[in-house]
Amino acid sequence: MAKRRWNVAIVGATGAVGTVMRRVLEERRFPVNQLKLLASGRSAGKRIDFLRQPHKVEVLTPEAFEGVDIALFSAGGARSLEFAPEAARRGAVVVDNSSAFRMDPQVPLVVPEVNPHAVAKHKGIIANPNCSTIIMLVALKPVHDLFGVKRVIVSTYQSVSGAGAKAMHQLWRETRALAKRWGRYKAEQSVEQVEGLVQSPLEEPLVMAHRVAHNLIPQIDVFQPDGYTKEELKMRLESRKIMELPRLRLSATCVRVPVYLAHSASVTVELKQAADLDALRRAWAKAPGLVVQDNPGKALYPMPIERGGQDAVSVGRLRRDPDDPKVVHFWCVGDNLRKGAATNAVQIAELVAQG
Ligand SMILES: NC(=O)c1ccc[n+]([C@@H]2O[C@H](COP(=O)([O-])OP(=O)(O)OC[C@H]3O[C@@H](n4cnc5c(N)ncnc54)[C@H](OP(=O)(O)O)[C@@H]3O)[C@@H](O)[C@H]2O)c1
Repeated sequence: MAKRRWNVAIVGATGAVGTVMRRVLEERRFPVNQLKLLASGRSAGKRIDFLRQPHKVEVLTPEAFEGVDIALFSAGGARSLEFAPEAARRGAVVVDNSSAFRMDPQVPLVVPEVNPHAVAKHKGIIANPNCSTIIMLVALKPVHDLFGVKRVIVSTYQSVSGAGAKAMHQLWRETRALAKRWGRYKAEQSVEQVEGLVQSPLEEPLVMAHRVAHNLIPQIDVFQPDGYTKEELKMRLESRKIMELPRLRLSATCVRVPVYLAHSASVTVELKQAADLDALRRAWAKAPGLVVQDNPGKALYPMPIERGGQDAVSVGRLRRDPDDPKVVHFWCVGDNLRKGAATNAVQIAELVAQG
């Protein structure tokens, strides 16, 4: 029997995630029959290649989903809330990248390396988790399987591409403006003069709350009454749902860093039993979607500069806590546009296609 081919729509096809989704569908040879590229009126009529064939970007409307089997949404929560139910009503299975449906008990929230079985429970919409949560959980799952996780404390170092194409442009404009200034730099300049070059304000327009070049912004998404940001809350609640550990203790601090691509996380885990580090390294080496880079003597550890463009999450810097044998620390890095978004979404679509 001929293999089924699927009519696929990408909603937000011109954005940072949508662009990578198209590439990942090509690379993984997803059995696409027809591909629809949907975006706002600003992009309507634009031509974008898929499998070397030009495709015209269409405006997102409810009718656009007629005949669509799988709809990959990445155009923000408001568009998902409005159009994902429309797409599902017309028979499409929606894989949604926004946070709109993630905590809905009717909607599975899936990382294929962690809870692939949850896909089967869908009622038309499946949610793709938050990017930092996906990257951390790919590394955390083998830790939990071996020793049982009691508590997690995580600090993230998130790239600007996590805030979309416009945030990438902000870092680029700021870098360019600073490069012009640095043209005046001389090796014998005093610390005060260098400070002046780096710290005097830039005129560039802001997409993020603050300037990001030569800076760290300890705010991703809006603050909640308890002092955490929504991104930090997402890491806590989504991890609990995906790991099926409703009482998992998890506290996150999420920071935007002047890196274009790939999110990093420093993760501290309290375990139910003392850790055997060699056993954990062996389990990580066998785990799907994960590579181990952990040889401090050779300066080998995960770094965002090497992870951009890669599907696998990298993990390293594994240490036992000096004061508590039931606590380990590690560092993991993953491409937020790939495993943190597009690749995870296409993997979910593959699970749907496999039935
Ligand atoms: N970036 C990440 O690492 C990441 C990771 C996980 C999840 N996500 C989620 O994925 C979604 C997209 O993120 P992104 O980073 O790709 O953002 P982005 O680069 O800003 O792209 C946004 C996309 O949405 C489209 N869009 C905006 N308003 C629209 C409207 N009114 N009608 C139809 N299309 C509209 C844009 O089309 P135009 O070009 O026509 O404006 C563009 O294609 C967000 O929900 C985000 O939270 C992002």
